Amino acid sequence: MAEFGKNILYFDCVTSTFDELTKYPPENGLVVVADRQTGGIGRKGRAWVSDMGGAYFSFYILPDDKTENIPFLAIVCALAAYNTISRYTTCAIKWPNDIVSDGKKVCGILTKSAFNGDSSVYVMAGIGINANNTDFGELDYRATSLKLLAGKEIDRNKLVEEFFEEFNKIYLNLSNEEIIRLYKNACVTLGSHVAVHYNTDGTVFEGKCIDVRTDGSVDIKTENGIINVNAGEVSVRGIYGYV
Ligand code: BTN
Repeated sequence: MAEFGKNILYFDCVTSTFDELTKYPPENGLVVVADRQTGGIGRKGRAWVSDMGGAYFSFYILPDDKTENIPFLAIVCALAAYNTISRYTTCAIKWPNDIVSDGKKVCGILTKSAFNGDSSVYVMAGIGINANNTDFGELDYRATSLKLLAGKEIDRNKLVEEFFEEFNKIYLNLSNEEIIRLYKNACVTLGSHVAVHYNTDGTVFEGKCIDVRTDGSVDIKTENGIINVNAGEVSVRGIYGYV
């Protein structure tokens, strides 16, 4: 399979790197990077503020046997981002795919799937790393950046290259079992007491996260038994704060 990140297109300003990527036919590993986005998209329909200084990129992942399990690709991306950011600072994965450091978010990941003309599925992964940004406005209390954490200016292009080194090492070489094992080791949510918020009606329940399954869902042990939830239906917060 082609290596990911060999073909990178750079832009000054786009609405979203997803919009820009969709202008090109799906090609495994094709990447769009932008200096800023005017309509950056976050999870759960939120905006992703994308001023100068961040690393904003989206890339295609075309199906093979591993991509039958599409939520698993978000796990792969989270692990690659975790390994990349670990080169700069101590961090952890907050389920499903936020990278946090010092109790604050430093990277967010959004994966989308779509159909090709021949109705085969492909995936677009979008990664936003707070690299050199330092002002997060009202999100200051729960966002940070590599520059703030590492105390130095970050080379954005090198950071993107490093992400793809890590992604290729994981996705092209490791078994799904090994990937989930490494993910679990890095996941701060696993073993934590969490509040689980359903997106649909805002209902909340509390429990301890006791497993991450290979489909990307988590098992939460509550006083009423074990409840399995997936990233599409809930948000998870620590009992004492964001992480
Ligand atoms: C999240 O809400 O945590 C996910 C944020 C994902 C942001 C990235 S930035 C690059 C790509 N383009 C977008 O519009 N969003 C993703």
